[in-house]
Amino acid sequence: MTRIDKAQSPSGRIVILTGAGISKESGLETFRDPGGIWSRVRIEDVATPEAFTRDPERVHGFYNARRQGLLSDNVRPNAAHLALARLESEWPGEVLLVTQNIDDLHERAGSRNLIHMHGELLRALCLHCRGVEVWRDDMALDSVCPTCGRAGGLRVNVVWFGEMPFEMERIYQALAGCDLFISIGTSGNVYPAAGFVAEVRGTGRGATVELNLEPSEGHSHFTESHYGPASEIVPIFVETLLQERT
Ligand code: APR
Repeated sequence: MTRIDKAQSPSGRIVILTGAGISKESGLETFRDPGGIWSRVRIEDVATPEAFTRDPERVHGFYNARRQGLLSDNVRPNAAHLALARLESEWPGEVLLVTQNIDDLHERAGSRNLIHMHGELLRALCLHCRGVEVWRDDMALDSVCPTCGRAGGLRVNVVWFGEMPFEMERIYQALAGCDLFISIGTSGNVYPAAGFVAEVRGTGRGATVELNLEPSEGHSHFTESHYGPASEIVPIFVETLLQERT
């Protein structure tokens, strides 16, 4: 079990990275598991700026379906999301949660110190005024921007392949100074997130833990790992970490 060196940093700064696996038991699909999203839809058709230029209606349709799924009554935070919110509220040091997920389940579970590095399904970006607003309805070519009132310029505020993820400077600063890095529910296939564990290992200071259903691409970089469903292993890990602190 991970122990943060109390002498080194009694409060201990924690950075957590989550991926689609943490939301799987809430009823949201992952991408690369068997039957996952990319086994049915090509990234090049729905998740690149070129796809949006070529066929915006198809891209709107892809994200409208995922938005409707996220907003359905039976999709809610699971025990893993709730455990991370508990860790943030009860841990004496800083806990920064960096998620690759575009769902809002971490917020709904109570996490506050949160970065959506791949953006948010429930926000719209206007290409006319660059305004970003909450957006919970279907989006179409003629949707009107709530900020500037113009139509025809809205896109979902997510980071497509080939675009720069959000808040990378803040994330790398946190990785450089963290005492514990925890990776949860991600396959380690997509950079820059897949490189975060190596960043922490390179500092020579932070412990690195993988909590996943199965070993990820980067599993060998982690000093500790626990495998199983997130809703089971994350609450246990958080409880043990909090017990260790006392
Ligand atoms: N509990 C824990 N882990 C799980 C569970 C579960 N119940 N179910 C699946 N997993 C694990 C899988 O074993 C896999 O390693 O979650 C991981 C999901 O991997 P991906 O589907 O590749 O999702 P992710 O790593 O989040 O993808 C990263 O790629 O397509 C882009 O932008 C997209 O943010 C996404 C990024």
